[in-house]
Amino acid sequence: MSEPRFYRAIPGTNLKVAPICLGTMTFGAPVEAAEATRIIDWALEHGLNFLDTANSYEGYARIPGSPGGVAEEIIGQALGKRRTQAVVATKVGNPIGPSADDRGLGRTHIMRACDASLRRLQTDWIDLYYMHRPDPETPLEQSIAAFAELIGAGKVRYWGLSNFDTAQTSQILELCARHGWPRPVAHQPAYSLLNRSIERDLLPLCRSEQIGVIPYQVLQGGLLTGKYQHPTAPPTGTRGAEKPEWIPLLNDAATQQKLQELTEQAAAEGRTLLNYTIHTTLALPGIVSLIVGVKRIDQLKEFLQ
Ligand SMILES: NC(=O)c1ccc[n+]([C@@H]2O[C@H](COP(=O)([O-])OP(=O)(O)OC[C@H]3O[C@@H](n4cnc5c(N)ncnc54)[C@H](OP(=O)(O)O)[C@@H]3O)[C@@H](O)[C@H]2O)c1
Repeated sequence: MSEPRFYRAIPGTNLKVAPICLGTMTFGAPVEAAEATRIIDWALEHGLNFLDTANSYEGYARIPGSPGGVAEEIIGQALGKRRTQAVVATKVGNPIGPSADDRGLGRTHIMRACDASLRRLQTDWIDLYYMHRPDPETPLEQSIAAFAELIGAGKVRYWGLSNFDTAQTSQILELCARHGWPRPVAHQPAYSLLNRSIERDLLPLCRSEQIGVIPYQVLQGGLLTGKYQHPTAPPTGTRGAEKPEWIPLLNDAATQQKLQELTEQAAAEGRTLLNYTIHTTLALPGIVSLIVGVKRIDQLKEFLQ
């Protein structure tokens, strides 16, 4: 397939990615392997080449310390010989077992976790490897050096940060400059029109440092799709009905008020709330691609409208 016109470069890399990145946190449950595979097939056929996963993802079955791995296995099976068609991002850092070496950003865990991700993803390389969250118990130098080693070994092409704040990001950039380590090329923070805190300082920092921002929970778990008209009675088959703890703002009065305002702004532009959300968020300078979770192909199709 020829390269779709909508691809965007992640600054400082030769990765070109679609503006919509397929999130896979719900692969396994409620999105069973067969449906997840159909979603990946459809995404690749339509130029959506960017997949976001983590070693800890196993859908709704996830509890802190559970072994994870399910989403990566599904992706590995689904991609098969099409590996080069996809830009695969995965993460390390969340607990995946009971011991101290089963979590965090210490060298031992990073090295083991990376090899396990490569095995499950059935690949020799990870395009973008994220530190999933800060690990206050490990010196940053140790974690960055381990990532640099993985890049040197060809197991990882580029690396990024997720859930790190502005001060931590600045510190990491300083350490990279001081030690000659490769810099992070991407940042994955939570961001939505209901949660805009990164606009204050993280997004400007990433813009000035040429770090691509790839936000997650852009739909705020589904709230920004407009389907929760009656939050106390979420429609059957939605996250609000199936996994309300993953959509904590559902019954929040201030959120409902804000949703109402956003719906009116969208209508004034002749857009649905979902369409307005995607277009407004993608237009923010510094944002490269939006990670969205979907349950079905028809949900994914809506992002291309
Ligand atoms: N780095 C991190 O710490 C971190 C944390 C969380 C997530 N993530 C990444 O971000 C991805 C997305 O997270 P998320 O799934 O929690 O948030 P999200 O993208 O804001 O919400 C996804 C949910 O919205 C609903 N939805 C999606 N498209 C829709 C459509 N067109 N119409 C109606 N409903 C629609 C679906 O739920 P229902 O149909 O079930 O209602 C879907 O599961 C994850 O898969 C993961 O890759 C990263």
